[in-house]
Amino acid sequence: MKTKDKYKKSLSRTVPDQTPTARPRVAAVRPEFRGIVIRYEHEGLTEGWFNPRGLQQVVTNIVLNACEAVPPSSGRIEVKSVGRQDGLEISIADNGPGIPEPVRQLVFQPFVSYGKEGGTGLGLAVAQKIMRDHGGDIYLDSAGEGSTLFRLVLPFTSRE
Ligand SMILES: Nc1ncnc2c1ncn2[C@@H]1O[C@H](COP(=O)(O)OP(=O)(O)OP(=O)(O)O)[C@@H](O)[C@H]1O
Ligand SMILES: [Mg+2]
Repeated sequence: MKTKDKYKKSLSRTVPDQTPTARPRVAAVRPEFRGIVIRYEHEGLTEGWFNPRGLQQVVTNIVLNACEAVPPSSGRIEVKSVGRQDGLEISIADNGPGIPEPVRQLVFQPFVSYGKEGGTGLGLAVAQKIMRDHGGDIYLDSAGEGSTLFRLVLPFTSRE
């Protein structure tokens, strides 16, 4: 898959364990989430072409959703990235309530927000667009009761 042209200019060679997991400063921005444990792990290759800001926006949107879903004092979120020859995969799992079946297939649509006050429903739509602009994609792998798992796939597309 090819990275879209307009994105090529903004790509830089960066280290995944600093970029995709560029730890959103959740507790600083949203102090009410300070009791939530967020763990980051990276294994494998550490280089590829990314738009660092774009990728950080994606991770931030998903981690914030997870924070909004988990219990404030026993919430756990795990962000794991794996760098391989063909690309980078990032999984983001939480121990929140999951997403009801009928809502699951709608979550990437703009303005779909469910179960919270004040959500505009744009976070995942924006995340999907950024991933696709990179030639990658975002998947909701599971969302049964007690956990939700999003997976980001990013090809190590050459800039040329
Ligand atoms: N980790 C999660 N656990 C439970 N539900 C989730 C999770 N992530 C997303 N959702 C569901 O997907 C919906 C859409 O998420 P999205 O980020 O697009 O919008 P939002 O969070 O409601 O609003 P915004 O991000 O624009 O403030 C959420 O309203 C929520 O119902
Ligand atoms: Mg959101």
